[in-house]
Amino acid sequence: MTNFEIISKTITERRSTKPQIFNGKKIDNAVIEQLLNLANWAPTHAFTEPWRFVVMHGDGVKRFCEDHANLYKQNTPEEKFIQATYDKLKTQGDSVSHIIAVFSKRGENPNIPELEEICATACAVQNILLGAESLDIAALWSTGGQILKPSMKQYLNLREEDTMLGILYLGYTDQPKPAGKRLVSMEEKVMWYRS
Ligand SMILES: Cc1cc2nc3c(=O)[nH]c(=O)nc-3n(C[C@H](O)[C@H](O)[C@H](O)COP(=O)(O)O)c2cc1C
Repeated sequence: MTNFEIISKTITERRSTKPQIFNGKKIDNAVIEQLLNLANWAPTHAFTEPWRFVVMHGDGVKRFCEDHANLYKQNTPEEKFIQATYDKLKTQGDSVSHIIAVFSKRGENPNIPELEEICATACAVQNILLGAESLDIAALWSTGGQILKPSMKQYLNLREEDTMLGILYLGYTDQPKPAGKRLVSMEEKVMWYRS
């Protein structure tokens, strides 16, 4: 395969996989470090390198999910609280190997808008997802529950100016990958300008 074929296959075959269908098998921390090293090669304007990660593994996964569920409970008015949501958040990590919380650390270079740092961090996430795909690691980028809420920022000790991008559930699955789908045609997404 050419390099283009290899990267095309990895990009197009990457699928989001719900943690509920993970099989409980653990990923070596050394492999997680390799994925994080790929993240570190995201493009970065003026080398602000804003991507930051909090890695949960072992008992830390269960504890994080319990804490996440409790944050939901504490920050949801009683009339809006849904027990099934609480239970889902609490058990979401039961078959997961690692959870990586990803945030963008706002730098001090005034020439670099926050948007650029968030974009760079999103690229870092994609590097992880593509690395995971190449290793048959199942992954889901999730922003559900309290992940983007102020309560999660506080829980993870982020500063006001930092931005949560989500959490990544990582593990393995025995289930076949669903077919990928895109709903909007490329014609609608691309404009070719003639000089
Ligand atoms: C920023 C972001 C947040 C996402 N949050 C969630 C989420 O909270 N729950 C979820 O099931 N999927 C989430 N996803 C995954 C999308 O559902 C998924 O990418 C989409 O269905 C396309 O499927 P694919 O990734 O397999 O191509 C998120 C994706 C992105 C980029």
